[in-house]
Amino acid sequence: MKVHSYERSFLAVGAFGLLACIVALSYATFGMGMHLPDRVAKVEPKNIRTTAPFDHPGVRKTGPNEYEAVILAQIWTFSPQEIRVPVGSHVTFTVTSADVIHGFDIVGTRINMMAIPGQISRNSYTFREPGEHLLICHEYCGAAHHTMFAKVIVE
Ligand code: CUA
Repeated sequence: MKVHSYERSFLAVGAFGLLACIVALSYATFGMGMHLPDRVAKVEPKNIRTTAPFDHPGVRKTGPNEYEAVILAQIWTFSPQEIRVPVGSHVTFTVTSADVIHGFDIVGTRINMMAIPGQISRNSYTFREPGEHLLICHEYCGAAHHTMFAKVIVE
C-alpha cells in the first residue's frame, strides 16, 4: 500500500496535536496542580438550614489572611447576597444547594463549580486585587435563573 506524502504529513500534524494536548494536560495536572473542585461531603438537603455550617451562612476568619465563606444557593438567590474580604485574603468557598442544581461562578477568578443539593462543594482562591466580583449562577435553574447573583467585595 502506497501512502501519499500529503497523507503522511496530515497524520504527523494529527499526532503532534494529540501529543501536545497530552503534554499540556499532564503539565496542568501534575506541574500546576489543577484539578476539579473536590466533592467534600454529603449533606441532607431537607435539613440544610439547621445543619452546620449552612445554618449560619457567611464569612468567617479561620487564620491570618484565611477566610471561609459558607454560601447556600437556593431558588433564586445566594445566602448571603454579599461577602466582604480584605485584599490578599485566601478564601475557601464552601457551597451547597437547598433545592435544585445551581452554578457557582465568581467572575474574574478561577472559582467555577456547581452547587448540588446533598453535596458540599469546596474551592479556594486568593484575592490579590481590590474590587468587586459578581458571583453568578451559570446553570439554568428555572424561571428567574438570570436574576440569581451575589457579590464578592475585596476591600
Ligand atoms: Cu440558580 Cu441558575
